[in-house]
Amino acid sequence: MRLFKYSIFILLILFFAKGAIAFHPDIYQPRVPEELLEVVQEIESPYEATPEIIEAGRKIYFGKGLCVTCHSNNGKGVRLPGHSPRNFTDKKWQEVRSDGELMWILKNGSPGTGMPKRVGQVISEEEGWNVIHFIRTFNGK
Ligand code: HEC
Repeated sequence: MRLFKYSIFILLILFFAKGAIAFHPDIYQPRVPEELLEVVQEIESPYEATPEIIEAGRKIYFGKGLCVTCHSNNGKGVRLPGHSPRNFTDKKWQEVRSDGELMWILKNGSPGTGMPKRVGQVISEEEGWNVIHFIRTFNGK
């Protein structure tokens, strides 16, 4: 009987530990799976961050991308149950993430969190690059 209780206890711990990993609380840890990371990090935006491109990205962010509903006006993110959206004004986060990784997230979402797929669902790949250039403007504010 004791052994039985003990195994239930272990199973519970494993269950919650797995949940914690799925929510990957460390915001600097890459969201792209390890085996793809090197390739994805090398991918660069085909578009220059001109004022026109940034403005186009701003329109997506506040418009049909629906980004603002979770990521808020100032990019710091609204409080959501479960997993908080990224704080785009975090300088360190801006530095550790490449544009290619952000595009991967826009195409795949962030599994285990509320971050949905956007590119290929509600916006095109070009619009995705525009919004990435806009997100870069939150840097250090
Ligand atoms: C329903 C809420 C929701 C919407 C809508 C949403 N996001 Fe997110 N987003 C999140 C959450 C939650 C996270 C945190 C995910 C994580 O920590 O892995 C996140 C994370 C991100 C990240 C950071 C991923 C990383 O590598 O650290 C980027 C970039 C991002 N979102 C961009 C966008 C853009 C651009 C849009 C609009 C086209 C958008 N999001 C729409 C909830 C949302």
